[in-house]
Amino acid sequence: MIETLVIRAERQCDFDEIRTLVKAAFAGAEHTDGDEHNLVDRLRCTDEYIPGLSFVAEINGKIVGYAMFSQINIGSCKAISLAPLAVLPGFQNHGIGRALIEAGHQKAKEGDYYCSVVLGSPEYYSKSGYLPALPFGIVAPFEIPPQFYMVFPLKLRLPHGTVRYSHAFGV
Ligand SMILES: CC(C)(COP(=O)(O)OP(=O)(O)OC[C@H]1O[C@@H](n2cnc3c(N)ncnc32)[C@H](O)[C@@H]1OP(=O)(O)O)[C@@H](O)C(=O)NCCC(=O)NCCS
Repeated sequence: MIETLVIRAERQCDFDEIRTLVKAAFAGAEHTDGDEHNLVDRLRCTDEYIPGLSFVAEINGKIVGYAMFSQINIGSCKAISLAPLAVLPGFQNHGIGRALIEAGHQKAKEGDYYCSVVLGSPEYYSKSGYLPALPFGIVAPFEIPPQFYMVFPLKLRLPHGTVRYSHAFGV
């Protein structure tokens, strides 16, 4: 872990730097549609954007990591989706992604959210406590091999059903 790492909520003055960071991080990613930086901009313009639940990781004033949690619904219950998560190449594998996820979960527990849902690598997200969503009866609204769709419980009992995303995701 890098010692001078600061995790804090994003501010409007960060938006340009975040956009550049997300684009750079996903340029080298295994799975990408090349649209993640635009997704962030779109989500901020929706009702599903949650002020205070998007985080930057900062080292000596430079933003090196970013995580956005936006609202989703499972039935009539509120939950959150982690997307995107990005760490600048050169700063990866120092625990920054994990620290951003942890900050999001801690803050989300103050709200009325049942769980966090993510689409991604089971090897990576299981390190932060994510579990396969299917055994919880939580289903993606798109075709995806089930092991890539995961949930982190924020409450003891979870709702089940098909997840509804912001229109910003285009799903
Ligand atoms: C994925 C990403 C956010 C991880 O952030 P990070 O700060 O490098 O990760 P952490 O330091 O918290 O965790 C590192 C651990 O995760 C593993 N890991 C990193 N990326 C991984 C991946 N894509 N799949 C599986 N494991 C991965 C590392 O091997 C390391 O394992 P170890 O702890 O056993 O040594 C970062 O690599 C990134 O921005 N990648 C490009 C964008 C991307 O793919 N985002 C995720 C979309 S689902």
